[in-house]
Amino acid sequence: MALPKFVYMTEVGPRDGLQNEKSLVPVDVKVGLCERLLDAGVSSLEVTSFVSPRKIPQMADAREVMARVMPPLGGPQGVRRQGKRIAVLTPNLKGFDAALEAGATEVVIFGAASEAFSQRNIDCSIAESIERFRPVAEAAKANGLWLRAAVSTAFGCPYQGDVPVGAVVDVVQRLRDLGCDEIGIADTIGVGTPSQVTRVMEAAAREYPLDQISGHFHDTYGQALANVLACLQIGMHRFDASVAGLGGCPYAKGATGNVATEDIVYMLHGLGIETGIDLPKLVMAGQWISAFLGRQSGSRAGNALATRMRYGAAVAA
Ligand code: HMG
Ligand code: MG
Repeated sequence: MALPKFVYMTEVGPRDGLQNEKSLVPVDVKVGLCERLLDAGVSSLEVTSFVSPRKIPQMADAREVMARVMPPLGGPQGVRRQGKRIAVLTPNLKGFDAALEAGATEVVIFGAASEAFSQRNIDCSIAESIERFRPVAEAAKANGLWLRAAVSTAFGCPYQGDVPVGAVVDVVQRLRDLGCDEIGIADTIGVGTPSQVTRVMEAAAREYPLDQISGHFHDTYGQALANVLACLQIGMHRFDASVAGLGGCPYAKGATGNVATEDIVYMLHGLGIETGIDLPKLVMAGQWISAFLGRQSGSRAGNALATRMRYGAAVAA
């Protein structure tokens, strides 16, 4: 199959990336990161999560962050005119109400294909989670918001181990029936390999349009880019990624960050696939947040391009 001409990227760095940081990141830095990513041309940005602050202390400032990110974009209407999606995680109606008030244009409900992970991450069974999502889905539709769902642990679970393909398909069917606009199939702990990924995605696509399925790959075992390529080869064109490869889930111990946005964009542009993203600006955003966090960026392409850009600047001076 021919590769897609355009890939729709969702940048999850400010949310998935920062949620795993031990020290609280100041609001100014979170907003600075969002501004840099938007300036780099990111059209779908996961800004934060409206979740229990006890559960994810790093996201306790969600209201403040959204109050600073939304106005320069012209609020929800301005965001829509610019064709951008400003997404937040909303596990229940309480989160949804806060998201709506904050002006989000996209909400994300997040379930799992493994019971053990569902219990630890969102404190309920898979079946209960679907019942909690139902009113969120209805409210999202009623308010014209883009409704995305995430299916965690679709390729393996940190508590349960193997996850049967049938379990992923079952959750996809239930989320489809809630009316989701997009379903993200996630490798929370980064264990999947390309043939497994193809198998799971194709099984999901028998129940839900492939066109509306996105891939979310943590890169723990170094398989993420290969998995993205496997998805491209079956016609998928939606992926999440995290600038500088930041990320992880506090309830998936040992899992490292998402595939770095710089790495995936570098690969996509090399394949002649457009993303609408300005790679040098994205690289600088990755270097900036990594400098703040006091460590080297987790993006190989980002570090190589930053060195080349610094060298170029030094030669020109
Ligand atoms: P629960 O204990 O069943 O909920 O938790 P509850 O309704 O009984 O409420 C418990 C407390 O949370 C109460 O506060 C509520 O007010 C508060 P208390 O009375 O104890 O002070 N609360 C909230 N506060 C703010 N916003 C809310 C909210 N809801 C309740 N929306 C719940 C259930 C879902 C709330 C909890 O388990 C939770 O917040 N979990 C979030 C976990 C999380 O954010 N994980 C990381 C994101 S998922 C991820 O990273 C995976 C992904 O990247 C894909 C992948 O890689 O796999 C998406
Ligand atoms: Mg994740």
